[in-house]
Amino acid sequence: MKRVSLTQYLVEEQRLHDNIPAELRLLIEVVARACKTISHSVGKGALGDILGSAGSENVQGEVQKKLDVISNEILLEANEWGGHLAAMASEEMESIHPIPNRYPMGEYMLLFDPLDGSSNIDVNVSIGTIFSVLKAPEGMSAPTEADFMQPGTQQVAAGYAVYGPQTMLVLTTGNGVNCFTLDREMGSWVLTQKNMQIPEDTKEFAINMSNQRHWHPPVQRYVSEMLAGKTGPRGKDFNMRWIASMVADVHRILSRGGIFMYPADLRDPAQPGKLRLMYEANPMAMIVEQAGGAATDGRQRILDIPPTKLHQRVPVFLGSKSEVERVTSYHAE
Ligand code: AHG
Ligand code: MN
Ligand code: MN
Repeated sequence: MKRVSLTQYLVEEQRLHDNIPAELRLLIEVVARACKTISHSVGKGALGDILGSAGSENVQGEVQKKLDVISNEILLEANEWGGHLAAMASEEMESIHPIPNRYPMGEYMLLFDPLDGSSNIDVNVSIGTIFSVLKAPEGMSAPTEADFMQPGTQQVAAGYAVYGPQTMLVLTTGNGVNCFTLDREMGSWVLTQKNMQIPEDTKEFAINMSNQRHWHPPVQRYVSEMLAGKTGPRGKDFNMRWIASMVADVHRILSRGGIFMYPADLRDPAQPGKLRLMYEANPMAMIVEQAGGAATDGRQRILDIPPTKLHQRVPVFLGSKSEVERVTSYHAE
């Protein structure tokens, strides 16, 4: 079979749909190259001195792992000089990172969760990188956080890399979802799955069950109906999976269906859920919708939420359409 590289895919996609101009192609290739570098570090583990804590905290008060910091640096450095970006924003940086004056300024803005699934780094379980691409507002001169406050529907591209038994890159530019596998010997991304589609019906759910006592009634009801199995209201048995790396859980759902939930709960009304809208929920919601699934915060479509802060958190329900619609309807009752 003829191998199609990421570059060839991007060039041909531009020819067919005119939706990947040269600057965006450069952006995607640079991000993909950075993910290759991160994958290489991940693979070294203890031999590369990448495990353990960095001894610092990020703006969200989470202890930073060495790999959180390293991955953030890799993405920043890779994307600074190309002239394709105006600014970047990251889970690991309190405020936005405008492109330094010594480089030309481009028309895109990049957001990322440099290392998703930090609690899995030290135990050799799949982790990933998530990214989202926005266009800088027309006529913008010096980028500010306000320029990033665009709903997810405005994303021009989104993707993730998963560092698992294989390293894969899953990408959408608004025309379906494609998956590339890293050929480690050649150092190239090879198209291995075209037009990924999330199966409509599923018997698998993903949620951190240890928080059950804190959930709101709609989530309690939805999960207990699944747990009731064949003789319950759903009339079938369900299976549960929770990897605790959103990237890996979403990748499973893209591959064989399922629903992923990180709901808000009763603990702290000021903190609606755990996941961040701009660089976790939005890119994943775009990918999931492009693969025929759905993504809501329990009440509305994630991609329609008008952001108010860079590190804003949202409840997340995403995956197979019928399941997301069901749990969303329970919230409305
Ligand atoms: P991050 O490592 O970027 O902070 O994200 C971790 C997120 C997400 O990947 C995962 O689904 C969730 O946190 C796991 O939460 P629990 O620790 O509650 O399982
Ligand atoms: Mn994350
Ligand atoms: Mn992270």
